[in-house]
Amino acid sequence: MAKNKTLKVDVLTLFPEMIDAYCNASILGRAQKSKLLQVKAHDLRRWAIDKHGHVDDRPFGGGAGMVMRVEPFYKALKQLKVSGAKTRVILTSAKGKLFTQKDAQRLAKYDRLVFLCGRYEGVDERVATKLADEELSIGPYVMTGGELAALVVTDAVARLRPGVLGQKASLDEESWSDGVTKEYPQYTRPEVFGKWKVPAVLLSGDHKKIAEWRKKNQK
Ligand SMILES: C[S@@+](CC[C@H](N)C(=O)[O-])C[C@H]1O[C@@H](n2cnc3c(N)ncnc32)[C@H](O)[C@@H]1O
Repeated sequence: MAKNKTLKVDVLTLFPEMIDAYCNASILGRAQKSKLLQVKAHDLRRWAIDKHGHVDDRPFGGGAGMVMRVEPFYKALKQLKVSGAKTRVILTSAKGKLFTQKDAQRLAKYDRLVFLCGRYEGVDERVATKLADEELSIGPYVMTGGELAALVVTDAVARLRPGVLGQKASLDEESWSDGVTKEYPQYTRPEVFGKWKVPAVLLSGDHKKIAEWRKKNQK
């Protein structure tokens, strides 16, 4: 049987430990052990502009906060040899395109994903226009940094890669797999918990009726 290819993920961040903590646990951790996934978190300060580790500066035109400079991202991408059609560079950004399951399916086709994580007031716009292939937001709200966004996208993409989840069927029927439908309600033991009962049809063994019930109860 052909070996499933490794999805390589690089995350450029000021807080690599945040990425490692999540990606080394549970399903992603297992996927890494079996070489279906390889996540490397890189401390952006390795490519700081001076020996004091500076990666940010004041915004041109004035305003509150600091903006992350373009040079550390540029140097990091160069040193990590980030290029090629099967690689996608993603800037995490509150003003980016809203990330959806369709994006997860699209990104799952790449061999390598590289996430650029902002902090502070954001990132010099040249990172978006000259270095990144796309800018993704995980929702209409502002967080303190891009690390959670990089993790959300990595998690949603990795579980779509062959071999990462046990059963492929679980991917076909779940919420958003067609971009619209949400999954039917699921139940397990006990059949009765206090006054709360599992719908009788699910215990009937009648597969046709169960399928009809599930279709009717999708949101
Ligand atoms: C405090 S935010 C900057 C917000 C920016 N000043 C604005 O108003 O759009 C710092 C960093 O967090 C990340 N971030 C914040 N919210 C995000 C979201 N909803 N989706 C993806 N990344 C986000 C981005 O990397 C951003 O550069």
